[in-house]
Amino acid sequence: MSGSATEQLSRVEARVSELPDRLQSHINRARIVGRELSELFGADAQRVDLAIAGHDLYRAATDEELLDAANRRGITPGRLEREQPLLLHGPLAAIWMADEGRIADKEVLDAVQHHTTFAPGLGVIAASVFLADKLDPDKIERRPWLVTVDQLARSGNWKAAVKAYIQALDAELKEQGVTPHPLAQQAYDTL
Ligand SMILES: [Fe+2]
Ligand SMILES: [Fe+2]
Repeated sequence: MSGSATEQLSRVEARVSELPDRLQSHINRARIVGRELSELFGADAQRVDLAIAGHDLYRAATDEELLDAANRRGITPGRLEREQPLLLHGPLAAIWMADEGRIADKEVLDAVQHHTTFAPGLGVIAASVFLADKLDPDKIERRPWLVTVDQLARSGNWKAAVKAYIQALDAELKEQGVTPHPLAQQAYDTL
């Protein structure tokens, strides 16, 4: 770990300030939800907030930029990542947070890496980040099925909320002919 938690957050926030306005607004809304969920779930609010601040550092990158960045960072994209390069935006953000952000907190880095799909073995920090990202009020407006996930989260049951999200997304993706991510399925099975 390098520098205080405040310094780590400042480095991430400086990078966030370079992102498009719309993305910054989403990050700000997710950070507010993250504070609420941290309290409900008994998660460390500061670590959750740091992860949410950095989770979408690569969300505005193009497919080509994501694949190039992965290549430079030594990530070999699998078939799913080549089909959907956006899947790389969490892993790349986690690498940025570790290298440029000088953050060594593995739970924070794992939460950022897996914020899109979730993954088996993750705990309450990652669940708070995952759910805060999905329960951005603007997203709930666009996807009415998120209301159920929100209710489960607000009841304090993060496992049920994560499972409900994965299940509903799986149905939505299948309807669109998109392959659901195996990590999401594995996470569902272990929760
Ligand atoms: Fe994201
Ligand atoms: Fe996000």
